Amino acid sequence: MKNSAIIITGANGNVGSYFAKKYCDLGENLILIIHTSDHRIKKFVKDNSDRIKVVQVDLSDYLNLKTKLAKVITETGWKPDRLIHTATARSHAIKLLADSDPELWKNIINANLIGTFNILKTTLKYFKENKNGKIVLFGSNVSRIGLPKDTAYAASKAGIANIGRTLAAEEAVNNIIVNTVSPGPIKIDDGQFTESYRKFREEYYKEKVRDIPLKRCASFQDIFGLCEFLLSKDNSYITGEEFFITGGKI
Ligand SMILES: NC(=O)c1ccc[n+]([C@@H]2O[C@H](COP(=O)([O-])OP(=O)(O)OC[C@H]3O[C@@H](n4cnc5c(N)ncnc54)[C@H](OP(=O)(O)O)[C@@H]3O)[C@@H](O)[C@H]2O)c1
Repeated sequence: MKNSAIIITGANGNVGSYFAKKYCDLGENLILIIHTSDHRIKKFVKDNSDRIKVVQVDLSDYLNLKTKLAKVITETGWKPDRLIHTATARSHAIKLLADSDPELWKNIINANLIGTFNILKTTLKYFKENKNGKIVLFGSNVSRIGLPKDTAYAASKAGIANIGRTLAAEEAVNNIIVNTVSPGPIKIDDGQFTESYRKFREEYYKEKVRDIPLKRCASFQDIFGLCEFLLSKDNSYITGEEFFITGGKI
């Protein structure tokens, strides 16, 4: 049995759970990081408990994350060599910056930027030990077009892409490859959102899709194909990039 493993954050999210199932079907060992719920992954986790370990943690809590991850890695003896960081918090407040609550703003930055720092710092330890690692961070095309009424999310996504660029330069010497994937609107199940946030997204997406040359949102498969390549053995030279998946919209 192989002992490499993929760490996926946001593993119960829309994109994260799709990726987790795909890599489960491909026979990989998985460490799935979830936050509050596991309803999207519960079934296949149960059916593959020898190959899938779940860690429930708030990514903004560095010590807890470090301890829980170390425990799983020690118990399994796995050597993680890929990280897919999809976890994200969104502000459901939908407010102009001028009207935003400083605490809510800080919470999004905390989950998204400090959370990104924390997962990178904890996993890099293992990648560096093995001089081998590939990382895909999830940004968003809002890093280049902004997102009126959600500046904290927009700022965090631009920050993540720049962490990726910088880390790629820092860790190339350790054979660690880092890229950011920045999709435009993705077709997701939005059942988890509040009614007002769902309306906001619906309006936003309707307007954005009008401008997308391919006239549709991205599917999970559109995104998976690129990430799978970036994380594969075939990619030994593409690093530090931010890839926009936007159906032709510049
Ligand atoms: N969906 C889109 O249209 C779209 C477009 C562009 C870019 N993206 C990016 O693509 C990625 C995946 O998006 P998605 O639609 O799959 O998002 P999603 O369904 O909202 O999933 C995000 C996941 O992150 C988890 N999370 C939130 N805060 C966390 C924390 N503090 N610690 C640990 N986990 C936390 C959430 O868990 P809980 O629910 O339990 O809190 C959730 O499972 C994100 O990075 C997003 O920014 C998405």
